[in-house]
Amino acid sequence: MNLLAPDVRANPYPFYAGLRRHAPVSQVDPGGLWAVARYDDVMTVLKNPRLFSSEGIRRTYRPDWIPDYPMADSMLVMDPPRHTRLRSLVSRAFGATVLTRLEPRLRELSHRLIAALPDGQPVDFVEDFSIRVPISALGELVGIPPSLHAQLKHWAEVMTRFTSVGPADLEPQERIRASVAEARHHFEQVLEERRREPRDDLMSDLLSAHVDGEALTQTELMGFMFLLLIGGLETTVHLLSASVLKLQEDPALMARLRAEPELIPRFIDEMLRHSGPVHGIVRLTTDDVELGGAHVPRGERLLLLMASANRDEARFLEPDRFDLERAGSQQLPFGHGAHFCLGAQLARMEARLALEALLARFARLTPGDEPARWNISLVMRGPIWPPLAAHTD
Ligand code: HEM
Repeated sequence: MNLLAPDVRANPYPFYAGLRRHAPVSQVDPGGLWAVARYDDVMTVLKNPRLFSSEGIRRTYRPDWIPDYPMADSMLVMDPPRHTRLRSLVSRAFGATVLTRLEPRLRELSHRLIAALPDGQPVDFVEDFSIRVPISALGELVGIPPSLHAQLKHWAEVMTRFTSVGPADLEPQERIRASVAEARHHFEQVLEERRREPRDDLMSDLLSAHVDGEALTQTELMGFMFLLLIGGLETTVHLLSASVLKLQEDPALMARLRAEPELIPRFIDEMLRHSGPVHGIVRLTTDDVELGGAHVPRGERLLLLMASANRDEARFLEPDRFDLERAGSQQLPFGHGAHFCLGAQLARMEARLALEALLARFARLTPGDEPARWNISLVMRGPIWPPLAAHTD
């Protein structure tokens, strides 16, 4: 099976169901990665970083054409004990205060964005809505002022293409190198400024964080800033865009959420399970292993199909049904174990504030002339252009 084939990208869920039933751990195209489709097997992998390594995929971030890409120094590609040390350092700074600081500003921004949308006209929801709240949150986190948010978005978009660039793609390589250099330059400036004059923000907290007398190194700080840029934007943008599309497709659901806005967090959780943005995460086997009835040799890359695990019928009743009343929180949209998403609460908060503002003004959404298209990626899925019209009555 080719996971990037157009019919699979258009709707991967029936293909995932086939894998769960007939070949739960099997090699797929492109690249011969071992797809892991069942919930329990995904959990087995995530709980065992010694056998299924994140560090092993670091070399992916260190190709010859960009040997100093800071993502290679991020904790996403580290195993314990290196990961444990780094995670406890950044967790101190990335706690509840991040949410408290951001909430009023993001609420105000969400209402401003929604107020600016025309009534009854087709709107590019991705550009004018979904991307704006996460980019502001991110700008605030990494200390980039609003005047440079367009730049920040550009860097993130260019770097997101990193994994699809081959050794002969000279032009995209050059674009990525340029964006990395620009972002690095700005981040270095922010760090320098906060060192001289600490503020009440995440960067200042990161600079002063210590565990057992040790602080973060400059390389680790830079790796973390790039990780926030890559991990914190596309994910949340897709979540918001997919949510808007869902509300357009299901007017009764939209009416219910308008009448009972306290259900919005439940809507977001079910969106994350049913149509979450992260479809695959990668690990490397450090030994020969038996998994889901398959023999996987040492040194192979596994693609954990989170979106398939989240629709596993062995775990969820009628998994393809979108169900606001679904109880329990066993879903895996944010991963599990050592690398569990550090921004999970932030992403939920961003989505809640944005949707509260949308639902407070608009009563219904209608489709534009074109159907929604979906991005092309093994690891991430979201609508890239749902041209919808929003109506106040
Ligand atoms: C809907 C939005 C999001 C989803 C679905 C999501 C999903 C994930 C997943 C599945 C992982 C685990 C990766 C692995 O195990 O290899 C992860 C890690 C991470 N995420 Fe998120 N994420 C989201 C938003 C965010 C945001 C907003 C931020 C911060 C601004 C963020 C920061 C991180 C970081 C720093 C890690 C690495 C944690 C570690 O390596 O210990 N994420 N995310």
